[in-house]
Amino acid sequence: MAKRVFLFVLDSLGVGEAPDAAAFGDHDCHTLKRIAGSPAFHLNALLQLGLGHMDGQDYLPRTAAPQAAVCRLAERSAGKDTTIGHWEIAGVVSPSPLPTYPEGFPADVLQAFSAATGRGVLCNKPYSGTDVIRDYGQEHLQTGKLIVYTSADSVFQIAAHEELVPPEQLYEYCRAARAILTGPHAVGRVIARPFVGKPGAFTRTANRRDFSLQPPRTTLLDALQQAGKTVYAVGKISDVFAGRGITKSVPTHGNAEGMAAAMDAVKTDFEGLCFINLVDFDMLYGHRQDVDGYAAALTAFDRWLPGFMAQMGPEDLLMITADHGCDPGDSHTDHSREYTPLLVYGAPVEPVNLGTRSGFCHIAATVADYLDCDYRGDGQSLWPLLCRPAETRRLLCRAALNARRNAYAPYSGYRVGAALLGQSGRIYTGCNIENAAFSPTVCAERTALFKAVSEGERAFAMLAVCGGKEDAVQGLFPPCGVCRQALCEFCAPAMPVLLITGPDSFEEHTLGDLLPLSFSLPTDR
Ligand code: THU
Repeated sequence: MAKRVFLFVLDSLGVGEAPDAAAFGDHDCHTLKRIAGSPAFHLNALLQLGLGHMDGQDYLPRTAAPQAAVCRLAERSAGKDTTIGHWEIAGVVSPSPLPTYPEGFPADVLQAFSAATGRGVLCNKPYSGTDVIRDYGQEHLQTGKLIVYTSADSVFQIAAHEELVPPEQLYEYCRAARAILTGPHAVGRVIARPFVGKPGAFTRTANRRDFSLQPPRTTLLDALQQAGKTVYAVGKISDVFAGRGITKSVPTHGNAEGMAAAMDAVKTDFEGLCFINLVDFDMLYGHRQDVDGYAAALTAFDRWLPGFMAQMGPEDLLMITADHGCDPGDSHTDHSREYTPLLVYGAPVEPVNLGTRSGFCHIAATVADYLDCDYRGDGQSLWPLLCRPAETRRLLCRAALNARRNAYAPYSGYRVGAALLGQSGRIYTGCNIENAAFSPTVCAERTALFKAVSEGERAFAMLAVCGGKEDAVQGLFPPCGVCRQALCEFCAPAMPVLLITGPDSFEEHTLGDLLPLSFSLPTDR
């Protein structure tokens, strides 16, 4: 069996107001808590996984033994839209939001567009798609000018009558617009909106087409594809990534089709990622302020989940997250700036609680790490923190043994390697660095510790150390007293310390065993 990750985005399932919600016009938003008050809310599988253990979900029942690792994530990007949320999940943080045009598009954009199409522009305002053809359709037919409009989202929409502008021609105009809308005007989507019929009875056709903005940098999807892995995209994922980095896309018309496509995928033999967006939560219930509908849709997903989990193989991971919030009971119909959930389930996963972390991008780094791909994007792999304890130990010992290769020990000939796992998930390595004057020599453990602390890491989960003469790993090489004291400044007495005894063996101690009464200043005691 090959390693596979099934990453579900429950579109808009926020789990509480983000600390910076006010800057996004939000207050008092908590999508999950809101729907938990509905009589249609009946969760079982998600609670068994440990949803109620996640930070900020204390209104939910807890379970004795959660099956999944849980974490609550804050968005780092300056936006709360679908595109930016998914890009961040795939490793790319966006420092600025996608542009919106409540006053219409600026003159220079429209001039460039008219020069490219040879046609003038009508409307240029936020407008309802059905109203805009009713109000401007006739003038469009009389003058040949294109109807350009937008919405609260980052979109440039072009409506044209199919008898005046055939769809293929309209798509060309969209491509021209896409080429113009870059830099500060890089809207999320250019959308072709063809329509037919007579004045007073215009109707839109099924020939709508979206021209999405390309992700600005390499995403997890690109990296996995380059590494030869399969990337299945279910629902609107392909659209959000402008089709990039995707092996096969399965577009859907809603949650039921999305779940069916995921079920097909889990029964298929592949190696890589199946990235699924379930859009109904947002589109049908969040924006429409339908609390009961939202609760019923999540209940339906929850009931479906055990059947999916039963199909998972021993190397499969299930990850469940969201791209933003859309509280159906807050003061507006728009998205809400919220924390999102992260549940990670599978035989290789230890059900730990990773608290609250900043960045959806850690998801991409974790998926890549698990799938043996070097990509980390803007994130940090959480894998060493949420894999089984034996695997954490294996990873840390391997890192210490590798670090030892860089030891600089021309005077003693003892080569030492250390690896220190930070609470961020990052592994900091160190080696001993000797000096001709002898006393400036620094031990491997302190090299690792000082690297970590100087990078901002302040809490640690585990240490591994190995050493010996020349290339051999000869028995125990325990940290010296100075290193123990330095470690005690930042590491808890219960922190495991692995003393490596061979390529695949170690003796396990704790820092407290190694230094029972460390020094601290009397004022701190
Ligand atoms: N050394 C370490 O790297 N870590 C320790 O905790 C003890 C000693 C190094 C320092 C020196 O380069 C060599 O081992 C022999 O003392």
